[in-house]
Amino acid sequence: MVIATPSRRDVLQFTAGAGALPWLAACASATGDELGVEMPELRAVGQPMPQGVPLPETPPLAKSEDSVGFAIVGLGDYALRQMMPRFVNARRAHIAAVVTGNAEKGDIIGAAYGVPEDARYSYENFAEIAEDDRVDAVYIVLPSGLHMEWTEKAFAAGKHVLCEKPMALSSAECERMIAAAEQAHRKLMIAYRCHFEPFNLRAMELMRAQAVGDIRVIRTDQHYRAGPATPAQNWRLSRALGGQGPLEDYGIYGVQSALYLSGEMPESIVARAYRPKDDPRFSEIAAYVGTLMQFPSGAVAQLSTSYDSAGSNRAVVRGTGGTLTMSPATSYTGNRMTLDTGTAEILEPGDPTVQFAGQLDHLADAIRDDIAVRTSGEMGLRDVRLMEAIYLSAAEDRIISMNPDGTMKG
Ligand SMILES: NC(=O)c1ccc[n+]([C@@H]2O[C@H](COP(=O)([O-])OP(=O)(O)OC[C@H]3O[C@@H](n4cnc5c(N)ncnc54)[C@H](OP(=O)(O)O)[C@@H]3O)[C@@H](O)[C@H]2O)c1
Repeated sequence: MVIATPSRRDVLQFTAGAGALPWLAACASATGDELGVEMPELRAVGQPMPQGVPLPETPPLAKSEDSVGFAIVGLGDYALRQMMPRFVNARRAHIAAVVTGNAEKGDIIGAAYGVPEDARYSYENFAEIAEDDRVDAVYIVLPSGLHMEWTEKAFAAGKHVLCEKPMALSSAECERMIAAAEQAHRKLMIAYRCHFEPFNLRAMELMRAQAVGDIRVIRTDQHYRAGPATPAQNWRLSRALGGQGPLEDYGIYGVQSALYLSGEMPESIVARAYRPKDDPRFSEIAAYVGTLMQFPSGAVAQLSTSYDSAGSNRAVVRGTGGTLTMSPATSYTGNRMTLDTGTAEILEPGDPTVQFAGQLDHLADAIRDDIAVRTSGEMGLRDVRLMEAIYLSAAEDRIISMNPDGTMKG
C-alpha cells in the first residue's frame, strides 16, 4: 500500500478491509454489508429541497462592473442557508448561475436569486458553462467525495474555483486539483471561512503577539451527535462521500486552528479512532477521532472530534502567561472569546457573519487583481495530508513523524 501519498482507492481500502487495523478490529464487528446498510452513489445526484430555506425578497444585484459571477454547484443546506444569502453582502461577487441535479429546485432558487433560466445548469450539461461568459468562478459545495471531480470539470471549462472544505478525501486528489488549476491558469481557493472571520483573525494576531506567553497546549473539540441515518441517507456517514470519520468535515476546524493558533506545523502525530459496534451510522466510518500533535516549540495540540457526542465547538490555548478560550470557536455567528491573563477579558472583535462575503470578495479580488489566494489549494492539501497521518497513526497504532510540509517522514 502507498503510504506517503495514498490514492483515494488506497485510503478507502485502508480502513475498509483489514481486520488487522487496531481501531476497526477492536471496536467494530460488522461491516455495512453485514448490517444490511444501503450505500450511496459516488456521483452527483440531485436531492430534495431542504425545508425552510430563506429566499431573498428581491433578487440581489451585482454591486460593481467587474463583479465576479459565481456558479453555485450543489443546492444543499450550506449553499442555500449560509452562502447564497450572503452574496448580498459581497462588494465584488454575485450569483450568475446554479448547477443542480434537481431542476425544480433549480427553478425555485434560480428565480429567487435572479438567475436567468439559461444559466440554470444540470450535472449533465455542466460542460456548456465553458461558453457562458456570465460565469467567472465555480463554487463547489457538493459532498466532499465529489470535490475533485467537479473541480477538475470546472477548470476544464476555464473557470476559477472556490471549493468547500475538506478540499478532497486524499492527498492524491488534492494534488490533481492543484495540477488542474495550474494547467488551466485559474485560481483555486479552499473555502476556509475562519481566515475571514474576526474572532479567529484576532486570535491569530493575539497568539503572534504572545498574548498568552509561550504556547504550551492547544485543545480543540468539534462534536455533535449525528441523527439516526445510514450512509445512503447522510453522505457524511459514507466513506466514499464523506471520508473516514468526523475529522474531514468537522474536526478539520480543530486541525486548522491548531496550526493557525500555534503558527507551527507538527513534527509528530499520534491518534486514536473509535468505531462503535453494530451501529448503522458507523458501518463505514469512525465515530470519534482523538489526536495529539507535537510542535517543534514543544507545544502540543490535543484535538478531539466526534459524530456521536453532545455538541461542542471549542478551542483553548494555554500559555505560560494566560489562556485564550473560544467557544463557540468557529461558528457561522455568535462566536465568543475570552482572554484570561489574571483577569478575564471578553473580546468582541467584530461580526462573525462577515466571513462569508469576505471569502467571496477575496477570491474576486484574487481573480480581478491577480493576487495570491489566502486559503490556497496547497493549504487544503497540507491539511488532507495531516488527516491522512492522523488516520494512519490510528490504524497502525504508532507515532507518525512529520515533515514541515505535512508529509509523513520515511
Ligand atoms: N464551510 C462550512 O462551514 C461548511 C458547512 C457545511 C458544509 N460545508 C461543506 O459544503 C459541502 C456540502 O455540504 P452540505 O451540508 O451543504 O451538504 P448537503 O446539504 O447534503 O447538500 C449537498 C448538495 O450536493 C448535491 N449533491 C450532488 N450529488 C450528491 C450526492 N450523491 N449526495 C448528496 N448530495 C449530492 C445536492 O444538490 P442538488 O440537489 O442541487 O443537486 C445536495 O443538496 C461539503 O463539502 C461540506 O463539507 C462547509
